Amino acid sequence: MSNELLREALTLDRYPRSNTYDQQWVVDNLMGPHPLWSAEGLMQVMTLEPGMRVLDLGCGTALTSIFLAREYDVEVWATDLWVDPTENWRRIQDAGAAGRVHPIQSDAHKLPFAHGFFDAVVSIGAYNYFGTGVDYLAYLTEFLRPNGLLGVIAPGIRTAPDFTPPAYLADRWGPDLCTWLPPDWWQRLWERTNLVTVDTADMLPHGWTDWLHWLQTCAKVDRGYEPDQRMLEADEGNLLGLTRLVAHRN
Ligand SMILES: C[S@@+](CC[C@H](N)C(=O)[O-])C[C@H]1O[C@@H](n2cnc3c(N)ncnc32)[C@H](O)[C@@H]1O
Repeated sequence: MSNELLREALTLDRYPRSNTYDQQWVVDNLMGPHPLWSAEGLMQVMTLEPGMRVLDLGCGTALTSIFLAREYDVEVWATDLWVDPTENWRRIQDAGAAGRVHPIQSDAHKLPFAHGFFDAVVSIGAYNYFGTGVDYLAYLTEFLRPNGLLGVIAPGIRTAPDFTPPAYLADRWGPDLCTWLPPDWWQRLWERTNLVTVDTADMLPHGWTDWLHWLQTCAKVDRGYEPDQRMLEADEGNLLGLTRLVAHRN
């Protein structure tokens, strides 16, 4: 598939900002659902003001950090555990975002930042890896100033977690899929701490459709992930999609 065809396939009216990026660059650096669509979808319900200090937690290849810095004129600490920060620094420099995006390697449980430092924390396609414990939100909000924002978008499921998975999910059911949780589950986990107020807890509109379209397009350029594609196809949009939450620190 040519670069032009890839661009056409991955241009969607509902993501006008993402449409301006090189889709080959996105595909080359993918780690899950289209990261820029997820970031833009999160920003539909979260407002970042110019100059804000933003922690992008579990940023992977830092594409979302670059996107947020460029699109919303914020300063971003691109923080991740598995991805080499030197590789992220190269991507950040190549994208002309040096000075606005700072690569950091850290475990989300051992963050090397000052308390109250950030105006906002965002986490795109990653929070479910480290944030499901009852004590995690209390730890993370220490790094936010009062009234600071927390926005998360991650693979999720519409119904409560204590259900019997349908046959098409049973094959893949395990420790990772167990963390694909519904918006109301996260909302209860967060609000019971009394540390934040949840402003939005929903499934991203068109999340399932766009995730599947992304996987099907990536498959055409040998960058797909067949198990997830098959699972989403079998789901027919009934359960799976992207869970989206925005809260502010009390
Ligand atoms: C599926 S990738 C998503 C990356 C990127 N945000 C995106 O949307 O493409 C999940 C990321 O979570 C990060 N991660 C998992 N556990 C983590 C932890 N304990 N601390 C920090 N990052 C973690 C991994 O390093 C990985 O890059």
